[in-house]
Amino acid sequence: MGLASKHLLGISELTSAEIVHVLDTAETFRAISQREIKKVPTLRGRTVINLFFEASTRTRTSFELAGKRLSADTINISASTSSVTKGETLLDTARNLEAMSPDFIVIRHPSAGAPHALARICRAAVINAGDGAHEHPTQALLDAMTIRQHKGRVENLRVAIIGDILHSRVARSNMHLLTKLGAQVSLAGPGTLVPAEFEELVAGGNLRVASRIEEAIEGADVVMVLRIQRERQDAAFFPSLREYAVHYGLNLKRLSGAQPDAIVMHPGPMNRGIEIASDVADGSRSLILDQVSNGLAVRMAVLYLLAGGSVLNQNMLSQTKPETANTTADPRAGATPAVTSSNSAAEQLEPVAAGGQAGAEQKRRVKTADSN
Ligand code: CP
Repeated sequence: MGLASKHLLGISELTSAEIVHVLDTAETFRAISQREIKKVPTLRGRTVINLFFEASTRTRTSFELAGKRLSADTINISASTSSVTKGETLLDTARNLEAMSPDFIVIRHPSAGAPHALARICRAAVINAGDGAHEHPTQALLDAMTIRQHKGRVENLRVAIIGDILHSRVARSNMHLLTKLGAQVSLAGPGTLVPAEFEELVAGGNLRVASRIEEAIEGADVVMVLRIQRERQDAAFFPSLREYAVHYGLNLKRLSGAQPDAIVMHPGPMNRGIEIASDVADGSRSLILDQVSNGLAVRMAVLYLLAGGSVLNQNMLSQTKPETANTTADPRAGATPAVTSSNSAAEQLEPVAAGGQAGAEQKRRVKTADSN
């Protein structure tokens, strides 16, 4: 099963079944990054363009690595080195990129809705890597994957999301995802950054705005801290960063109100000593780097599923033949992803030149031609 839409624009458009499907698929892809040879031929011949109009360390790197580990060709374009600096519009940029027939365009843009505008004119699958303060769907997916690994489920967990909710696309995507999977979500932070109307963003009553940060953290299974997004704040939402740290920062004392086995998450980049104290960020309950590792697996899963992924088995995850490595260790190394289904999506994913049913047929034809 792939996903209903050919694009991934937001969590709000996914069903809970689709979310679980992405998470399950990502678990399968996680194993690839733990191998010595971290590459499979699944998307050989496909092209991924990463079009980033805002800074990024985690998202851009992991989309690039995800594409490379699936054997796709990946290209990075940043606003500062593109012809946008010469006055070209976003849509003209997209049309020109489309003329080179990419299969995926991954876009991060400061304007909410930019990925949706591209999706309306592009044949390529468009993936939202963060649009303004709107959504960051792959971040919420990697967060859910991390929660499931450590808590075994998302349903009925109490999740506190604290900090700059107003400007956070991570918060919006997580509000949609966590409530779709049945978590109870509490939002807290300075009143100027947590509008009470946010409770109306999702149906079902699983989302509430707490009046104090301690109230949201009380009894929480998961404490998710958000970055103060100074680049999106065009007004003084709180007196000073020092005051913010004192009144709203997550420190060990505040965390002691959560469940004893509560986990701490942060999407990064962190402002250490402001929204999160270093002893919490680096403490035993922090899963911040696990989130980053899971981001790679989630992005591999998203690329695979948007490519029409429907069959995912051990053979499909067979390694690409290492060019110089000793291949005797794994007799399957270099094997084609042996997708045996006649399903057309699976056939699309089968790298013909590398072998497999279609590849074997091609080799037979070549051999016959040679012997003639
Ligand atoms: N969490 C996240 O989106 O990080 P980057 O801005 O580094 O991509």
